[in-house]
Amino acid sequence: YDGTINIPVYVYVIYSNASQNISDAQVNSQISVLNADFNDTNYNDVPTEFQSVGADIDINFTLATIDRQANSTTSWGTNNAVKSAYPAVPGHLTIWVANIGGGILGYAQFPGGNASTDGVVISPQYFGTTGTAQAPFDKGRTATHEVGHWLNLRHIWGDGRCKQDDFVADTPSSDGPNYGCPSYPTVNCRSNDMTMNYMDYTDDACMNMFTLGQKDRMRAIFASGGARENFVQ
Ligand code: ARG
Ligand code: ZN
Ligand code: CA
Repeated sequence: YDGTINIPVYVYVIYSNASQNISDAQVNSQISVLNADFNDTNYNDVPTEFQSVGADIDINFTLATIDRQANSTTSWGTNNAVKSAYPAVPGHLTIWVANIGGGILGYAQFPGGNASTDGVVISPQYFGTTGTAQAPFDKGRTATHEVGHWLNLRHIWGDGRCKQDDFVADTPSSDGPNYGCPSYPTVNCRSNDMTMNYMDYTDDACMNMFTLGQKDRMRAIFASGGARENFVQ
């Protein structure tokens, strides 16, 4: 699919206490990060060897609704329980801001799954850049990463050893995630890891790119017959 893709976003804020009931400003700060990260045209800030594959994904996110719901559940886990209580909204990227627990930042559903559970879940303290957002996950990159999954991206290391692929040719092979803020170069599988890719596990402040190959993989699902073709006319 060619051209800008516009995605309306439906945000549930599910809270069991006041601090989980994050502000409109915190929600809006996350939408701003999604728009910046999916429309990045400046790759001077990545290592020279990766600059030529940095991509402008050209997807815009528009906040449609903030739906606040009080609920006595304090931790929702990763088994879609929150989605059974509050179903996904068709025609939107549905984001459930709900405390997952267990130190889990977020989780996502890949394209092609059940419509009622389609979307991403993110714990409130890892959502947006203001309010209750907590370092080192306070730059909104958990949502960027989870929306990457929602748009069909795998983890950059392919969730396996060196030969396990992420089905993207221009992301270097690696044998596992990187954490924290790695120095460059970080060498695995005889090449330099792209530790600053949004689909690694590094800290929010240390990730800043998608690649052209990831762009192709994401945008393919909007083509005719693709899993998210209904978002484009
Ligand atoms: N662990 C989560 C996942 O695999 C998200 C990781 C997000 N990383 C970050 N720096 N915010 O989906
Ligand atoms: Zn992930
Ligand atoms: Ca690859």
